Amino acid sequence: MGLFSALDIKKLDKASINKVSKKLELQIRELEYLNQHNILPDTSVLKRIEIHFGISPIELKIKMGIMDKEVLDLLSLNATTISKLNSPTKEYTSPKNNPEFTSEFGKLYRGDCLEIMRQMDDNSVDMFFADPPFNLNKLYLSEIDDNLTSKEYLDWCYDWIEEGIRILKPGGSFFIWNIPKWNTYLSSYLNNKLTFRHWIACDLKMSLKIQGRLYPAHYSLLYYVKGEKANVFNPDRMPMETCPKCNDDLKDYGGYKNKMNPLGVNMTDVWYDIPPVRHTKYKTRKEANELSIKLMDRIIEMSTKEGDIVFDPFGGAGTTYITAELKKRKWLGCELGPLNSIIERFNNIGNESEYLNNYRSNYNVLFPEKIKKKRTKLNLWTDDTFLTTDTQK
Ligand SMILES: C[S@@+](CC[C@H](N)C(=O)[O-])C[C@H]1O[C@@H](n2cnc3c(N)ncnc32)[C@H](O)[C@@H]1O
Repeated sequence: MGLFSALDIKKLDKASINKVSKKLELQIRELEYLNQHNILPDTSVLKRIEIHFGISPIELKIKMGIMDKEVLDLLSLNATTISKLNSPTKEYTSPKNNPEFTSEFGKLYRGDCLEIMRQMDDNSVDMFFADPPFNLNKLYLSEIDDNLTSKEYLDWCYDWIEEGIRILKPGGSFFIWNIPKWNTYLSSYLNNKLTFRHWIACDLKMSLKIQGRLYPAHYSLLYYVKGEKANVFNPDRMPMETCPKCNDDLKDYGGYKNKMNPLGVNMTDVWYDIPPVRHTKYKTRKEANELSIKLMDRIIEMSTKEGDIVFDPFGGAGTTYITAELKKRKWLGCELGPLNSIIERFNNIGNESEYLNNYRSNYNVLFPEKIKKKRTKLNLWTDDTFLTTDTQK
């Protein structure tokens, strides 16, 4: 789908593109832009399309997969007729693959996530987390095409999202990590299928400033649940922010200090403390856009309990699987490219465990032990100053 296929022209057929550009009085560059981003041409071009191709604006929208109100109303009015036209049934009967790697808690498969998911049972996992390629024309060892048109990329996302929703248990949690541009589309798709919980902004600088744009400084983490209510919602509480130099308060808490929960402050939907895994020394796989264990720990802790099943279709360097293993969650995963760096990582899981335990010791307290000692020495208030405080998490 897309403008070119709606007009029956091939992406690389320069001669046809040239002809169409003349007929529609659009420059080739403009035509390619509309096709790449799946944008409906403006009214004057729509008129020319109707004249030269005999395709009405609404037919064009349907062919391009642009489901605006006009199209949806038309489909709704004609639902019975349309449903009888063609309804292919999906089959979930292929034989189960053998995992390439197993650990105490998990199974890792090599292959295309769609194929693997189609072999999984309905309502079988407690948490779904996806960190797909962002279609930014990057090179992956799996040699996937990371430079699709918007339409092709989103259609692919909708396919694995559908499978993800199917395999998620009612009350299970569904997460997608992506750049805001794509998550605006994915979130509007998900709004019709799952219950929205949060758009979490994760303050992480991306590497490149784009000319004429604001500096992109956050990733989006979409958080949905299947059905009305989450089976598990257990966010960590965070330590109070203090000045890294003088250890004093960063905000004026006035008379509220004694009302602060000694187990820390409520987690918000803006996460400032997730480190990038940029330095190759710390990165397991150079090209894998590896996420931080700190991020995966926070998500898994918030939405699952020990023994629950976590599924991630895009293995990369295996951060989800390592974190799930350390937190005694069962996990299932797959990766199209080589699996050796994930397996290697499991051989050195001890280092990662130490890292995780270190920063986790700073959660669910108002002041981490080290800070508390320093503040006490400096005669600054701590939760011990108000020992009568209620201590519920
Ligand atoms: C952004 S990376 C995931 C990084 C991972 N979250 C981590 O922290 O290490 C995306 C991965 O998805 C893999 N991939 C792309 N298309 C896939 C597909 N259809 N099935 C399975 N894996 C795929 C890529 O090879 C790449 O390793």
